[in-house]
Amino acid sequence: MLVSIRLQTAEAVSRERSTLSKTLLAALLLPIAGCAAVESPDWRTLRPVSDFGVLVLDVYGDLFWWTAGIFVVVELLLIYALVRYRSRSGDSEVPDQVHGFTALEIGWTLLPAAILFFIAIPTVRTIFLLQGAPPDRDPLEITVIGHQWWWEFRYPELGIVTANELHVPVGRTASLTLTSADVIHSFWVPQIGGKRDLNPGSENRLWFTPTEPGVYHGQCAELCGTSHANMRMRLFVDDSASFAQWSAAMRATAAPDSAGVMTFLISGCAACHTIAGTPAQGKVGPDLTSVGSRTTLASSMIPNTPEMMAAWLRSPDSVKPGALMPDLNLDEQRIADLVEFLEGLR
Ligand code: CUA
Repeated sequence: MLVSIRLQTAEAVSRERSTLSKTLLAALLLPIAGCAAVESPDWRTLRPVSDFGVLVLDVYGDLFWWTAGIFVVVELLLIYALVRYRSRSGDSEVPDQVHGFTALEIGWTLLPAAILFFIAIPTVRTIFLLQGAPPDRDPLEITVIGHQWWWEFRYPELGIVTANELHVPVGRTASLTLTSADVIHSFWVPQIGGKRDLNPGSENRLWFTPTEPGVYHGQCAELCGTSHANMRMRLFVDDSASFAQWSAAMRATAAPDSAGVMTFLISGCAACHTIAGTPAQGKVGPDLTSVGSRTTLASSMIPNTPEMMAAWLRSPDSVKPGALMPDLNLDEQRIADLVEFLEGLR
């Protein structure tokens, strides 16, 4: 009997240990899994693909080596003190107690002040450089308007209005004028640059010259309400031929099919959305004139496929929690008609 109880207890302990080790393993794997998610898309600022990103990384690099040097000096002094003044066998008395050492106190006040001064030089220089005029005399002007919770991009010179997917040509400076339609947002594409606030009622500026074609992920970097985490964007850095092609296609959108426009109007979509050349002129939500040509929907939350567009129309809140797009209680036939119409808008 006693043996059996002991065995049971041993088993229980072993089970407990096994659960504990599994929990610990899971806890260890969780951050590693997080790293894997970071791989794609790339949210790191350590591989910049713009002049803005390189300038900021240079400051970061300078500061890193300054702090690394300070760390080494402090640790060496600490180890020296530990070894030199350790207690030895035979020590019986408390060592001499020292109160106040003027030279040392002046030293450890002046030295950090001097370090901060030298750190401030490259930092302030870069801040002024990045806040100043763009290096290119003929930058591409783009107005960025933050909305809860999506991005509006306007190209005044090209007459293009789009949402959530920003296209810029490689090698040409993009000069962004940033503002907001509601609360404070912040423009941030980690590999390109930011974070710069979009303030309602005033304008901020941000310029960058992309150096490598590609698709870069961005995210609002200022807590702006329920769906802040879902306020994403994509920045397409195109070679000059692709950019010319994209902007030409954006300006030459085909006249939308009139039956589709009617479905759009009677479904209530026009209260918030614009489709150029139709009576739909709502300004609350993204401009849908060329929505079919975008690669993503719902501020870059989902790929732009007919299935995902249908899911979005069926229940916006389950695709993008907190989205201001209402559930219009559309029946399946209406959803299918709208998907066909919207995907055809190119
Ligand atoms: Cu917009 Cu956070």
